[in-house]
Amino acid sequence: MTRRMVVTAALPYANGHIHIGHLVEYIQTDIWVRFQKLRGHRAIYICADDTHGTAIMLRARQEGRSEEELIADMQQAHVRDFAGFDIQFDNYGSTHSPENRELCNRFWQALRQAGLVYEKEVEQLYDPVAQTFLADRFVRGTCPRCKAPDQYGDSCDRCGATYSPAELIDPKSTISGARPEPRRAKHLFIQIEKLHDFLERWTQEDEHLQPEVANYLKGHFLNQPLRDWDVSRPAPYFGFEIPDYPGHYWYVWFDAPIGYLASTWQWCKRHGEEFDRWWRDPETEIHHFIGKDITYFHTLFWPAMLHVAGYNLPTKVHIHGFLTVGGEKMSKSKGTFVMASTYLKHLDPAYLRYYYATKLTHKVDDLDLNPEEFVHRVNADLVGKVVNLASRTARFAHATGLSATYPDDQGLFAAGVEQGERIAAAYEQGNYNQAMRLVMELADRANAYVESRQPWQLAKEPEKAQELQDVCTVGLNLFRQIAVYLAPVLPRLAEQTGQLLGDPITSWQQAAEPLTGTPVARFKHMMKRASLEQVQAMFEESKEAESETSSPAGGFQDSDEPLRQEPLVEEHCTFEEFTKIDLRVARVVAAEDVKESKKLLRLTLSLGGQERREVLAGIKGVYQPEELVGQLVICCANLQPRKMRFGTSQGMVLAAGPGGKEIYLLRPDSGAKPGQRVH
Ligand code: 2FM
Ligand code: ZN
Repeated sequence: MTRRMVVTAALPYANGHIHIGHLVEYIQTDIWVRFQKLRGHRAIYICADDTHGTAIMLRARQEGRSEEELIADMQQAHVRDFAGFDIQFDNYGSTHSPENRELCNRFWQALRQAGLVYEKEVEQLYDPVAQTFLADRFVRGTCPRCKAPDQYGDSCDRCGATYSPAELIDPKSTISGARPEPRRAKHLFIQIEKLHDFLERWTQEDEHLQPEVANYLKGHFLNQPLRDWDVSRPAPYFGFEIPDYPGHYWYVWFDAPIGYLASTWQWCKRHGEEFDRWWRDPETEIHHFIGKDITYFHTLFWPAMLHVAGYNLPTKVHIHGFLTVGGEKMSKSKGTFVMASTYLKHLDPAYLRYYYATKLTHKVDDLDLNPEEFVHRVNADLVGKVVNLASRTARFAHATGLSATYPDDQGLFAAGVEQGERIAAAYEQGNYNQAMRLVMELADRANAYVESRQPWQLAKEPEKAQELQDVCTVGLNLFRQIAVYLAPVLPRLAEQTGQLLGDPITSWQQAAEPLTGTPVARFKHMMKRASLEQVQAMFEESKEAESETSSPAGGFQDSDEPLRQEPLVEEHCTFEEFTKIDLRVARVVAAEDVKESKKLLRLTLSLGGQERREVLAGIKGVYQPEELVGQLVICCANLQPRKMRFGTSQGMVLAAGPGGKEIYLLRPDSGAKPGQRVH
């Protein structure tokens, strides 16, 4: 049965350029859509720029031009960057489009008619110089609890307190530096709680969400009344003015997801398709690919809006984790915050597409780009196994073409056909990592075949011309089968294969039928080896580009919902399991740099009396050795000793934070003594 599907990736903000972190999702989605098309389904890849909000307004002001000019330029840059990575949208729209305005109206009327909208006065900080209300993230000041300076308006990085920006001591606007003043303004809210039962059902049933996401929502949001959603912003704001509430605009997160429909509508207009067939017909599947930071919007607000307005609900929201580079958060100072355009100056986009495919699964886990592994994977798999198959056989087959009948290949091609169904199932589930492993198994078997039949030897013996042709026919057909399976990930390789064998790759089914009796074109080089030097040169260049990439107002996106946090672990641990971990108060008696390591400090801990532990802690650059000596920390005293390159670590000191520069050691209150157990 041919399926019909709308597939979307999150709409990128128009206030910044595309970087390799964004690309995880656009490549992931592109692979999925290409796979569906190759399988013969009707899938369209829909995206658009997310253009509204305070951040865009401020950036336009800073650059002294209109928001429209700014978003037009940014859209051009985004489209160019995506094309550079062979990310092929069926429509790339903008949330600032007439279609989106019209659809926002329709959603709005439905919400009004359902009696879900009400007005409430809100006190917010206002920047009298920039003349705009300030989202919490645009205010900084001293924490009212621990007095740490320069903290954000909603929470303290030092002590973890959460508060309202009005409670900050000595608050400052990050936009103008002025002291913000509290002002009251009317806002419109949506009573999302009225849809609680619907959302409970939708999030927990029918696998719309990955199990860990469904559990997270159940344990953190759906176990209590849902907060009303503030969907309007008073002027000045760059967005759509609310028709029945002049002087107020829809909050960017209201009109952004509606942009999925608006962009589909543009595609329908261009292709003479009926819009309702794509968003109102229960047969049409809707698939959203998003990052974990915007889970709440897409799994609670968004289904609620679609439900009320009478559009199809998402068939599935596919949520992925964040990208780290070399195990750390992408960093501008280290050069690992790489823009898409910078990447393209140094490396082949196919490398990144393949590498991400080997890393992506159906889970929400973060994925790491490790430079050495990146180079190794590309060279070992793509160049060493896949392209090599073609280069070792095509040059001999060029003279003769493929054999007229498919030779005996000891069942290799048939086994590949069978494997094809497993590969397809893995793609369908979003488990690309497994799909790539299954494909590489085929490549290993095919290489072993070519190796054993040595076409380069056969070529030296004229009487073995037929055998040579047969071996090359098998080798090239196994190569082509692999190229079909890799086509969603490596569209350029698929194209080159089509040219080499005179048969463009357009369908998964082609992997099930060997080609025979057709000419073989002259072999052209397909892919270069990657080198670590290229990767390093890319990081070097990214270091220089730092100042150009930072956005105004501290680079924060226009989201003021408290969502960017790690989901809590759902599974309980028993008290016995907890007590197995022997946590102790410890005093740092010595601390030194591990010279050869970028991350490690060597700490000698006293656990009371003569008890000592030597621990290697990944806190270099965040804490200076000398500031730690004499301090109390918490240590896991019974962690199995771990051999590392720089010695053995006999335990672990406890710290919080996501890593990189954000590491916060846990310290006991004063009075605690080394050796005391932590319960
Ligand atoms: O988080 C972001 O980058 C948003 N611009 C994503 C919007 S997705 C959709 F809802 F439009
Ligand atoms: Zn604090």
